Amino acid sequence: MSFRAIFIAVLVSASLIAAALILNARRPRVETAQPTAALVKASGKCAECHRRETEAMVVEFERSRHAAQGVNCLDCHQPVEGQEGQEHRGFTIATKLTAKNCAQCHHEQYQQFLRSRHAAPAYAAVLGSAPFTAQQISASEEYHPGAVERAANPLVGLEGDAAAVKGCLSCHSIGTPNTDGSIGSCTQCHARHLASVRLARLPETCGQCHMGPDHSQLEIYTESKHGVLFNDQRERMNLDADPNRLTAADMPVPTCATCHLSGLGGQRVTHDTSERLSYWLFAAVSDRRPGYLEAQNRMKDICNTCHVQAHTDRFYAQAESVVVATNAKIEAGMGIMKGLYDDGLLTRQPFDEPIEFTAFDFWHYYGRTAKHGAFMGGADFVQWHGNYELLLHQVELQAEADDLRSRRAGH
Ligand code: HEC
Ligand code: HEC
Ligand code: HEC
Ligand code: HEC
Ligand code: HEC
Ligand code: HEC
Ligand code: HEC
Ligand code: HEC
Repeated sequence: MSFRAIFIAVLVSASLIAAALILNARRPRVETAQPTAALVKASGKCAECHRRETEAMVVEFERSRHAAQGVNCLDCHQPVEGQEGQEHRGFTIATKLTAKNCAQCHHEQYQQFLRSRHAAPAYAAVLGSAPFTAQQISASEEYHPGAVERAANPLVGLEGDAAAVKGCLSCHSIGTPNTDGSIGSCTQCHARHLASVRLARLPETCGQCHMGPDHSQLEIYTESKHGVLFNDQRERMNLDADPNRLTAADMPVPTCATCHLSGLGGQRVTHDTSERLSYWLFAAVSDRRPGYLEAQNRMKDICNTCHVQAHTDRFYAQAESVVVATNAKIEAGMGIMKGLYDDGLLTRQPFDEPIEFTAFDFWHYYGRTAKHGAFMGGADFVQWHGNYELLLHQVELQAEADDLRSRRAGH
């Protein structure tokens, strides 16, 4: 091409661009607010219209890594196998999105997630095995025997469906069996449009569910040295660091995600939150999990990225001694209850006698809290919300049991 031809071509395209800019400036603000040409192309008509209808969704999407990588609205919103579609402004979109839509592109994360107790076991903890297909049950039983093949929790029937749906299931729906055959929801940790690792790494994200007297992990973390340091330095953390290259230089202080999911300093990221756990801490009496040693070593490797081995071993030895001591206290309390049941002083019906609440709080609040506090650095939770309450409830339990027995004797 001659210089003259190039000159004309440049001139023509420059005037076209100028004309487009002038025209564009006359269009209403909602239509010109679209940031880049690449994004407009990616999001297409959905974004154009939804910027008017539901601007927040579009803005959140634009802030995500998905937008930057050219993932568009329909990539997630179109129905995948097993999902119903609905006509929507000339497109077919799925009536409900599930983990299956994400798994199209994130198969590996989905498979890891399926192995965790965040999947089927979380939902079965509330509603039992009934909502699951036989295939879903057998797949999950492979990883967590007895965690899905179980009865519904008695509190659901006693408190009623309204409470179960807005209460229990708001947290436990992380493992919903979906009608398309998949399990769970990825957006409980990632949000629907702002899919970011930054959000997932914040303690508050896990704390949506992991808080309160029966699993005070957020509170424990907040009072731990880790939590205090994180809150001081959160602005200086590189919370967006690539998961496959995350180091202690990006995040010198761990959050929930660091210890339970992240791959730190070359270790593997996992969506199986059970992988690094060596005890069943949520249980009344906490036994060692199968694979105790491997699991514990995986967690210790995370600690040892930042600490020396001796520090970690000392910490674990103390925490494990709290588990052993707590187990002994809970077993003593359960012995009192067993005596009452065996002697026919209580009905077999759960939660119909006041002492059953005392016994439940005994392990479910205070026993758990003491153990969780010991493993995650919450001294106040080992002591005042844990062992002190255990002592108090042990005395109460005994007094209530004595009372029941003397009332029986008085007949
Ligand atoms: C011309 C405007 C327009 C276009 C184009 C459009 N939408 Fe919508 N969308 C709406 C409006 C208005 C609503 C509110 C409910 C309704 O009227 O359907 C809505 C609702 C929705 C809902 C909620 C549906 C529900 O029942 O919960 C989703 C999801 C959605 N749109 C996604 C999309 C996607 C993805 C695209 C592109 C493939 C798209 N929309 C294209 C206007 C539009
Ligand atoms: C990473 C996947 C993903 C992408 C990309 C995505 N969405 Fe969504 N969107 C979701 C999920 C998940 C939901 C929740 C749907 C459900 O509960 O069934 C949702 C819900 C919605 C809703 C209903 C929200 C409400 O609260 O009323 C609208 C509207 C919507 N999306 C529009 C869009 C538009 C427009 C785009 C593109 C600019 C887009 N989405 C891109 C995953 C995505
Ligand atoms: C605020 C969120 C939240 C609510 C509400 C909630 N749970 Fe949970 N639940 C959790 C978390 C988080 C755990 C994990 C605790 C742990 O591992 O330390 C859990 C653990 C459990 C467990 C023990 C794990 C297992 O698989 O056996 C059972 C059982 C359970 N919940 C049942 C229920 C029932 C029934 C309700 C309603 C009456 C309920 N939960 C309400 C968040 C919640
Ligand atoms: C069409 C394919 C596709 C779908 C569907 C999809 N993603 Fe992604 N996702 C990507 C790509 C591409 C990236 C960027 C990967 C990279 O940068 O290496 C990504 C990145 C991510 C990240 C990392 C973000 C960050 O800050 O680094 C998260 C989290 C994520 N996706 C979650 C989801 C969730 C949750 C869903 C479903 C609601 C979903 N994705 C659906 C393709 C997809
Ligand atoms: C939407 C609620 C919800 C969110 C958000 C959530 N979890 Fe959970 N988590 C649960 C429930 C429910 C269980 C109990 C599952 C069971 O055992 O039945 C659980 C269990 C766990 C367990 C124990 C797993 C096992 O094998 O016993 C760990 C560890 C855990 N979660 C860590 C996290 C971390 C870290 C985050 C944040 C990155 C997080 N969770 C976010 C609800 C949630
Ligand atoms: C319990 C909370 C939680 C749930 C549920 C969850 N994620 Fe994540 N996800 C995280 C955390 C935390 C990270 C960041 C790990 C790190 O620090 O590197 C992450 C990272 C990711 C990444 C980036 C990983 C990489 O190696 O680049 C993708 C993609 C992703 N998640 C997809 C999903 C999908 C798909 C699902 C549903 C099957 C899902 N997540 C469910 C917490 C969660
Ligand atoms: C410094 C690392 C670290 C941090 C930070 C941390 N945890 Fe933990 N977490 C542990 C250890 C260690 C255990 C006990 C492991 C075992 O059983 O061997 C544990 C146990 C748990 C359990 C108990 C599972 C069961 O068996 O019942 C849950 C749930 C949990 N953590 C969630 C969280 C949440 C949510 C946060 C943030 C609010 C958090 N953790 C922060 C290290 C950590
Ligand atoms: C990402 C780095 C990192 C990880 C992972 C980590 N820590 Fe820490 N931890 C720190 C930092 C930084 C401090 C503050 C140290 C200081 O003051 O010099 C700290 C402080 C502590 C403290 C309080 C100081 C003390 O000695 O009394 C304990 C206990 C502790 N960590 C235990 C653990 C255990 C156990 C694990 C693994 C389950 C763990 N940490 C994982 C970075 C980390």
